[in-house]
Amino acid sequence: MLLSDPSLIKNTLLLNGVWQAGSSQFAVYNPATGEEIIWVHNASVKDTQLAIEYAVLAQKQWQQSLAAERAFLLKNWHQLVLQHQHDLALILATEQGKPLSEAKAEILYAASFIEWFAEEAKRLYGDVIPTTAANRRLMTIKQAVGVVAAITPWNFPAAMITRKLAPAFAAGCTVILKPSELTPLTAMALAELAQRAGFAPGVLQVLPTKEASAVGELLCQSPDVKKLTFTGSTRVGKLLMRQCADTVKRLSLELGGNAPVLIFADADLPKAVAGVMAAKFRNAGQTCVCINRIYVERAVYQEFNQLLLKAMQQLVQGSALEPGVTLGPLINTEAVTKVSALVQQAINQGATLMWAGQKPVAGSNFYPPTLLCDVTQDMALMQQEIFGPVAAVMPFDSEQEAISLANQSAAGLAAYVYSNDISRLWRLAEALQVGMVGINETAISTEVIPFGGVKESGLGREGSRYGIDEYLEIKHLCWGGLV
Ligand code: SIN
Repeated sequence: MLLSDPSLIKNTLLLNGVWQAGSSQFAVYNPATGEEIIWVHNASVKDTQLAIEYAVLAQKQWQQSLAAERAFLLKNWHQLVLQHQHDLALILATEQGKPLSEAKAEILYAASFIEWFAEEAKRLYGDVIPTTAANRRLMTIKQAVGVVAAITPWNFPAAMITRKLAPAFAAGCTVILKPSELTPLTAMALAELAQRAGFAPGVLQVLPTKEASAVGELLCQSPDVKKLTFTGSTRVGKLLMRQCADTVKRLSLELGGNAPVLIFADADLPKAVAGVMAAKFRNAGQTCVCINRIYVERAVYQEFNQLLLKAMQQLVQGSALEPGVTLGPLINTEAVTKVSALVQQAINQGATLMWAGQKPVAGSNFYPPTLLCDVTQDMALMQQEIFGPVAAVMPFDSEQEAISLANQSAAGLAAYVYSNDISRLWRLAEALQVGMVGINETAISTEVIPFGGVKESGLGREGSRYGIDEYLEIKHLCWGGLV
């Protein structure tokens, strides 16, 4: 990895403002080649306890800082991320596997949260409430929740970090970050830039670790950690939620999705295909808001499948840094095994394998782009997230049927609809049981929108003007005895 600033590569723990060694190490691999990139120091439970103690100390000062000071530091951090965007994208692409163009886009997406919350920091208004008694005045103020634990995933190693850290800092919370052990290098490069931006020791601490369950358990159970924010699987989210119960911790959970797209006969089919391509194959299908279930009205089913096939045949699979690549590998061999099993099971149950691309010769983590038609709702790949480059298409006959199929899921993160009938679009937007609906559009994620789900897709919203509320308590002040 040829970086302009090689000192962005950190492989130790960040504790109380100092990069320091752990007592053991683990390897980080390039998922495209299987090559080892670097050994990273492992944070133990003891290190986690230390991080909590440092965070509690830092919290006292940080929550007293002026909003303008926090905004200033966030702006510095934003500028540094932009200045180092090329290096950050290289680090991200190498450890995560997504094509460099997607990695660059993710760094800008990550930076956008820092800028947005630098601005929001200055707008943490309370209320003056019309009083109910002549001798009283009623108000609210907003205060930082306190020490936050952030547990982040490997699929967006930069953006899922800044989407949590920037609002936490803006609100006046310190953060202990546990990044995915598969992609810790991006997290640590971002943390190094936060150090350079001027955040005080203990405001951000980073714990790369192979001991995820023990470290996570301590973060959840510690009474000194006041909030947990997690992005990852629904299974782990439920476990963390249980572990947070004893301390009644504030929780934000961005969990799995199983996003449907509904394509009606009156839709602009080429636009629908372009939208499906963008949302299905982003990050090789390893995105919570990726389209997982493609429902197409029977009248245009064959035509849609042919158009999708043509578009999929344009995908270029390969390593992140190869020019022209549009589809990277999956994160590891377990992911490949899981996707293969889902596809094989669907074929065994009667799905038609319309096309599967050629796997690049090198690397065992590549799964070829695959088009399956005539899938049915009971197949496992319609019931759970595929998290791979597999398009699964099923026909429907009526709007009511389409809504019912779309809502038959425990997940409720995103859904997409394509139609040119404005009344139908309104009906669908209201009927779909999800947190986000893309209407004739699949690129729904930006820093200005409230990202989050309903049902088992999680709790809370990230980004937008609502994202900072997750890190604030509202305190009521009742002024009595006034004359
Ligand atoms: C995710 O997959 O969790 C995040 C995707 C996004 O922000 O668009």
